[in-house]
Amino acid sequence: MIKQRENFGSRAAVIMAMAGSAIGLGNIWRFPYMVGEYGGAAFIILYILCSFILVLPIFFAETIIGRRSRSNTFGAMRKLAPGTAWKWLGLLTIVSPIIILSYYSVVGGWSVEYLFKALTFDFTDTPPDQIQGFFGRFISATWRPIVAHTVFLAMVAGIILAGVKKGIEKFTKITMPILFVLVVIITIYSVSLPGASKGVEYLVKPDFSKISASTVAAAMGQAFFSLSLGVGTILTYASYVRKDENILASGVGTAVSDLLFAILAGFSIMPAVFAAGITPGAGPGLVFETLPFIFNKMGVAIPWISALVAILFFVTILVAALTSAISMMEVGVAYLTEEKGMKRLTATLAITAFAWVVGILCSLSFGPLSGVSLLGNSIFDFLDKLCSNWLLPAGGLLFTLFVGWKMSRADVKDEFTNGGTLKANTRLFGLIWFLLRFVAPVGIVAVFVTNLLL
Ligand code: PFF
Repeated sequence: MIKQRENFGSRAAVIMAMAGSAIGLGNIWRFPYMVGEYGGAAFIILYILCSFILVLPIFFAETIIGRRSRSNTFGAMRKLAPGTAWKWLGLLTIVSPIIILSYYSVVGGWSVEYLFKALTFDFTDTPPDQIQGFFGRFISATWRPIVAHTVFLAMVAGIILAGVKKGIEKFTKITMPILFVLVVIITIYSVSLPGASKGVEYLVKPDFSKISASTVAAAMGQAFFSLSLGVGTILTYASYVRKDENILASGVGTAVSDLLFAILAGFSIMPAVFAAGITPGAGPGLVFETLPFIFNKMGVAIPWISALVAILFFVTILVAALTSAISMMEVGVAYLTEEKGMKRLTATLAITAFAWVVGILCSLSFGPLSGVSLLGNSIFDFLDKLCSNWLLPAGGLLFTLFVGWKMSRADVKDEFTNGGTLKANTRLFGLIWFLLRFVAPVGIVAVFVTNLLL
């Protein structure tokens, strides 16, 4: 039985939904600590290069597959390459976003908890000497982070249950513009803090001696993660995009807004990190460790402004995390409803249950399970590295090979140029085709190989 599929209603809705998926904890939480860990501005330059040369072509590959097939990732492979092993790519890209959702939701939970603390004036009311261990105490506890993770996941499931148009489209259309305004306000505040200039310098002065094979792999992994690529998310969203939309414009629009947001987030956090005297290489806790410190310090002077900025900040983080997490869940929901005939409710509950259990293990890996090591990493770090550095680029590589080498040039061109009606796309097609067939695959493989050998 062919069910009527939903579509996004307008170009703005497409860009908002895709940018909503791209802009998330990857920009606000992950990007600043990667920049801190891998040496500041030099990492940012590599990240920008990877985003536009290696990762943007994958965006086009996924949107071409999604819109042409009008299917979930598995169905897309079944339709475009029936009876071939490509179906495994379809399956891989259903599993990986659910794994990401599991640990992402733990960090989403942290933002729920912090918003709660901001609303109850916890940052301003705690004595300064106790603020230091704030984050450590919270994540190493057993229950509180699990409750927060549960609340976050329930919100994600709620939006997904409302559907593509009434849930995803409505939520992202309202929240994305607000997010930009919020992050700009916070950036202005952060760069005006005393001692902030060292943080600004860190973000703009490159030190190329910091670049190694692992830096390049990390930059590429971050670019994939941040643009939500290689996991079928953009493919699934593209399957809801109308035939007259412009793939080139949505790709560039999404990539540019994602980059802009990451840079803004960097400028809103790094100056504050330096102003607070925290080391930029503090790892995944960076943002969450820095912020209580800032809000506490601010609070001594003017408590209500501090509380207000804190609330704005955590609303920003929470909303950004939600618009990304819904895109991860939608991949599996689309698969289960379309391929397995499940109801949207059952599919959503199944994925939520899986992500909940795995997320609990990730959450406990900061506390009671901190002794468990997988290849030298905690459960949380292991899953994050597995996804960002390996599964996402591998999925991306296979998508670009599929479009560049399995689909016919004529079909790809037809999809990219809307049947030749888009002039700029037609003119640029030669370049995009070259990037898709050669530059992106060779580049990704080169990063893999150097990372394995060095
Ligand atoms: N792009 C999201 C972020 O930057 O937070 C993370 C993400 C979303 C990764 C969706 C993968 C995905 F499928």
